[in-house]
Amino acid sequence: MAILPILRWPDARLSTRASAVEGITPGIHRLAQEMLETMYAAPGRGLAAPQVGVLQRLFVMDVTWKTGTPDPMVCINPEILWRSAVVATGDEGCLSIPGPITRIARAQAIQMAWTGLDGLRVERRLSGFAAICAQHEYDHLDGIVTLDRLAPAERAQALSQFDAVAA
Ligand code: NI
Repeated sequence: MAILPILRWPDARLSTRASAVEGITPGIHRLAQEMLETMYAAPGRGLAAPQVGVLQRLFVMDVTWKTGTPDPMVCINPEILWRSAVVATGDEGCLSIPGPITRIARAQAIQMAWTGLDGLRVERRLSGFAAICAQHEYDHLDGIVTLDRLAPAERAQALSQFDAVAA
C-alpha cells in the first residue's frame, strides 16, 4: 500500500468529469485502500479518485474518524437520488486546495446510492456533515471544486489564501 500524491488545483484533471467504474476489480480494491490511507494521512475526511489522478467515479470518506470511531466508506458510482430543499452552509476545506476554508450552501440532507467494494448497491440517507462531505466529493467526480461554487468576490478571497506551493 502506498500514500498517493494528491493533485493540486488548478490541475486540469480536477476539472474533468470522471467515467463510471466498470467493475470491482483487484485494481479498484487497491485504489480504494490506498485512497483511504492517503486521506487519513493527509489528514482529511474525504478524497475523490480524480484528486489522485484517476478519472473514475469513486470516492472515499470517513466523517467520524477525527472525533471518534473510524467509519470508512468507499462509494463507487454514487448517485444522489434526492436533495433536501433545506440548505445548510458549512465550512469546507479541500485537500487539493490547501489553505482556504470556504463556505458553501448545500442540501442539508441527501439520499445517495452507491456500490461498495463488495459489489452490493446500497442506499443511505445522509445529513449534516456527512451530507456536505458526500456532496463535496461527488462534485469532484463531475470536475467541480469548491472554488467553482463561490461568487467572484468569495473566490478571489479564497484564492488569496490558497497555498499553491506544495507543503
Ligand atoms: Ni475536495
